Amino acid sequence: MRYFIDSANLNDIKNIFNHLPVNGVTTNPTLLSKSNTTLIQLKELNELLNLQIHIQLQSTNAEAMYDEAQKILAINKNFVIKIPMTDQGLIVHKRLKQQNVTTNFTLCFSLHQAWLAAHSGADYMSFFIGRTEDHGYNVSEILFDIQSAYEQYQYKTKIIVASIRTIEHINASIRFGADIATIPPVLFSKLCKHVLTQNGLIQ
Ligand code: G3P
Repeated sequence: MRYFIDSANLNDIKNIFNHLPVNGVTTNPTLLSKSNTTLIQLKELNELLNLQIHIQLQSTNAEAMYDEAQKILAINKNFVIKIPMTDQGLIVHKRLKQQNVTTNFTLCFSLHQAWLAAHSGADYMSFFIGRTEDHGYNVSEILFDIQSAYEQYQYKTKIIVASIRTIEHINASIRFGADIATIPPVLFSKLCKHVLTQNGLIQ
């Protein structure tokens, strides 16, 4: 499983990068506005640390989404475009794939959405484990169904587990064999911790 950082905070990203092999960064409009990080800074980060950076479209209609994607790609053609799983998103996705843009269908919560992402030829599909669980669904069952469908139909789309809120979500991603887990910095510091490890230091 590859490790992505779910953040736009440059200090947090660099700090985690110094500890672990990290392959990418996922952002969304909220994370970008909270951190005040610009796309130019993310382009520099991409070049400096060789991290794949995913940028989400904010517009909601296909024409505006397409124009927004072109502006993002003009800053850095290596950005991965995150497209919300909507009917307008599907239109934009089709156009962007004709340009060979690397894409990530985001805000996916179900087997049929995950199937649609893969059937459309998306490079990545982001399954929101935390928010899905918030609504009472059995996330292990959905993840298992998605993985079985991808294997059955031999889809190449990579599964990103997003909306990770707890260490148990990370355990579930490892158990399930996710291609990527995108982990918020707040969980990073808890990853190597165990009470028995702490005890072992003084015994
Ligand atoms: O990767 C998606 C993530 O940023 C959303 O997380 O906790 O708001 O569901 P959350």
